[in-house]
Amino acid sequence: MKVLNVIGTRPQYIKLFPVCRELAGNGYENVIVDTGQHYDETLSQVFLEELDIPSVDYDLDVRSGSHGEQTGRMLAEIEDIVEEEDPDAVIVYGDTNSTLAAAIATAKLPPRLTHVESGTRSYNRSMPEELNRVMTDHVSDVLYAPTERAVENLAHEGLTDGVVLTGDVMYDAILWAREYVATSEDRGVLDDLPIEPGEFVLATVHRPRNTDDGQRLQAILSVLDEHPLPVVFPAHPRVRNRIAELDLDAELGADFHLIDPVGYLDFVRLLDGAERVATDSGGAQKEAFMLETPCVTLREETEWDETVECGWNRLVGADPDLIREALGENGNRPPRPDPFGDGRAAERIVGALDDGS
Ligand code: UD1
Ligand code: UDP
Repeated sequence: MKVLNVIGTRPQYIKLFPVCRELAGNGYENVIVDTGQHYDETLSQVFLEELDIPSVDYDLDVRSGSHGEQTGRMLAEIEDIVEEEDPDAVIVYGDTNSTLAAAIATAKLPPRLTHVESGTRSYNRSMPEELNRVMTDHVSDVLYAPTERAVENLAHEGLTDGVVLTGDVMYDAILWAREYVATSEDRGVLDDLPIEPGEFVLATVHRPRNTDDGQRLQAILSVLDEHPLPVVFPAHPRVRNRIAELDLDAELGADFHLIDPVGYLDFVRLLDGAERVATDSGGAQKEAFMLETPCVTLREETEWDETVECGWNRLVGADPDLIREALGENGNRPPRPDPFGDGRAAERIVGALDDGS
């Protein structure tokens, strides 16, 4: 059986690699299309190398642009490739413009369209990702849901055919990475920074809502900078550019470490070692939870409510008082539930391909 995967951004390399391992172990012919939505070495190449992803068959090199332009360019090219390769199934991942482009291109062609991380919802339609998720789910043949909540969300939209509860591939990924970093002598980025385990805050910001609005960005950075512990801030280019434009780095103290984006293994080292995580990333919220590091989410809502309801994640938006209070909160947390499955999501995804779903 032949499978074609479409990816293109940092989180998609991470979601892809457990699935690739499983496809390879089961004798599938595996084609990889990289849209090139992310093209900086630190957002793309680094993951291909460290996660041992098989070589990319098609690199579309689409790069940045407006939503319509970027999605449209990808769509036209993916359509040609799907027609040419004629796979049995196409797998799309998550909620980016690369996901949507591949979904629209495939939906009108013969291969089965299968969506990994289906059914997650923030219920905030001003987020491009929410529109990408909803549209992708509604044209997909197979909906691989990471959680029970995702299955319920799909049912509310009338989507019950083709739904497979798999668990979350990011849990598969992080179980492997946690083991890898725990057994490696290499301390990676931890040796490059003046920080001690359990005594720093890891922060990331990249959502348009927090970067395009300069006041929100300034409020977030200055409250993080006040924190008594050092702050490590691996900066996505969107926020790095904005910080430079607004000259906000001039205001940051010596304990605020504004660094380039790091690879996945280094990010896991930082997540695992942090006293707390502050982020607007979808993936980092989940990963903090999976590694039992409390998280403060710099958004008003999340598609990962399971992490909030059990007390391990707090939604604070960009309100300085709420951020400060949540960063300082030290109450006892209940034992962490396991909404993301058992680390065998990729096995279920490939098993369902075998079954013809
Ligand atoms: C995209 C996804 C978002 C995901 C994020 C993961 C969409 C709509 N958004 O957001 O869901 O959370 O990836 O990181 O698909 N840039 C570079 N180098 C790069 C890539 C981007 O400098 O390699 C800069 C460009 O100025 C670009 C901006 O970052 O305009 C935004 O890039 P884009 O891919 O449009 O969106 P992300 O913010 O990365
Ligand atoms: N990540 C990384 N290096 C970084 C920041 C994030 O490897 O410097 C990883 C992180 O482990 C997670 C993914 O990138 O798996 C999240 O990507 P991002 O926050 O860009 O996107 P989102 O999850 O919000 O779509």
